[in-house]
Amino acid sequence: MPRRDRNQIEQAFLWGQQAPPCILVIFGVTGDLAARKIAPAIYNLARSGQLGEPTIVLGVARRPLDDVQFRAEMLRAITNHSHSQPIDQELWRRFSPRWHYQALQADNEGDYLALAQRLGELDARYKTGGRRLLYLAVGPDILQKVVCNLRQGGLHKPQRPGGFVRVVVEKPFGWDLPSARQLNRCLRRAFRENQVFRIDHYLGKESVGNLLVLRFANTVIEPLLNRRYVDHVQITAAETVGMEGRRGAYYEQAGALRDMVQSHLLQLMALLAMEAPARLSAGDIHDRKVEFLRAIAPPTARQVARRTVRGQYAPSGEFPGYRQELGVSGDSEVETYVALSLFVRNRRWAGVPFHLRTGKALAAKSSRIVVVFKREAAGMFREACDVRGPNCLVIRIYPDEGIGLIIDGKVPGPSSILRPMNLNFRYGEAFEAASPEAYEHLLADAMSGEATLFLRNDEVEASWNLIDGIRTSWIAAGLPKLILYPAGSSGPEQADRLLGDPYKHWHPL
Ligand code: BG6
Repeated sequence: MPRRDRNQIEQAFLWGQQAPPCILVIFGVTGDLAARKIAPAIYNLARSGQLGEPTIVLGVARRPLDDVQFRAEMLRAITNHSHSQPIDQELWRRFSPRWHYQALQADNEGDYLALAQRLGELDARYKTGGRRLLYLAVGPDILQKVVCNLRQGGLHKPQRPGGFVRVVVEKPFGWDLPSARQLNRCLRRAFRENQVFRIDHYLGKESVGNLLVLRFANTVIEPLLNRRYVDHVQITAAETVGMEGRRGAYYEQAGALRDMVQSHLLQLMALLAMEAPARLSAGDIHDRKVEFLRAIAPPTARQVARRTVRGQYAPSGEFPGYRQELGVSGDSEVETYVALSLFVRNRRWAGVPFHLRTGKALAAKSSRIVVVFKREAAGMFREACDVRGPNCLVIRIYPDEGIGLIIDGKVPGPSSILRPMNLNFRYGEAFEAASPEAYEHLLADAMSGEATLFLRNDEVEASWNLIDGIRTSWIAAGLPKLILYPAGSSGPEQADRLLGDPYKHWHPL
């Protein structure tokens, strides 16, 4: 790879470098996200030597805890949820004295002044140079309150030259376009856009980050990604879990379209199909994504019936149905599964369907992109085999991260019978180090100020605009009938019809 390209890519991904020393302030630190994802990610970054020296953690939440109790809770969380096991006790012994705790009521302005003072003390004690990453792992109901009070308390801007204040925000970024705009306005009142890091954790997954490299650092794939060669694209994010006993109330407001399609699936689609950015800079990549998202045509009220399928899991064996889950209404009409076909109004993709599907309580956990190519036009080998499938590029996000290329090959021997062959690349085999967790990648990037794998405000608004359009069409046409599918199945069979041709099928989960 030429030196210039390599530097650009390294600059864009910064992965493997040390983040600058800073204070990492985690709001909502006693919550689920902090226990499952954030604390283990910090520990694993320390373990792989990727935290600047010193990195200080200040946990913030409502409950009164002292530093010692807080450290014990965090160790429990890390022990339960870290992917690297067993826990390195010696590392924790050295690192844990730098984990501190501050109680704060989100709506108490005085608490923010106390927080500012505590940060000042920590900064002076550890010489972290006024560098602060504020991770807002709080629910959407209090997020705006926290942002507003951070501003009132003067915590939104650097206190000295060379310092920084960056803020990490978790989804959901609103429930629709108006609420997303309101949230963005609120963030804008306190922070400049380049201080805000909106997380879509799918972008921290290794094979998603690699999509840009696959397309733009290589010559063999990119020329094929257009309407001339591609028959259709399938994007799947299937999960085996249901509401896990705790997510019912959230899901009742969200549903699969808002929860998964608005964020993860549209991001995958944009990264796969957007035009090439002029440079591998965050700004240029965001520009391309926004342009792409705006080019997706929302199905009209007439098209929704043919192009969307809504499903909800029903009880099966031990698995409860969605309507039996905690926090879910007994006659809920919320979809836990959605499949839909989208078309893009641009020269590259006109007429090529993108089929998206996602669902809970399905037969397997599987996230992948499959680009299905058109068949060889001259039909030279038509007689050689009648079971041949089309060529496919398969980007596996989970499980077994990697890339497969399915092409036809000759069965060894004197005949000329063809069979599909799979050229298969697996991260697990190709690289010695295991892929880091998405949250490790994203945290390190946010600490370094690298925004490529985060979402910009207009990107979020463009995807809500599309989702709102789909919902409006749904409502105008009378919500597409909810199809009940048994938990543990592959979802509603009706999703097969989206592919439009009995010989085309979804790649199996
Ligand atoms: C979250 C959704 O953003 O992504 C969840 O809110 C979903 O509903 C999760 O379960 C899936 O993430 P992953 O990494 O397990 O595929």
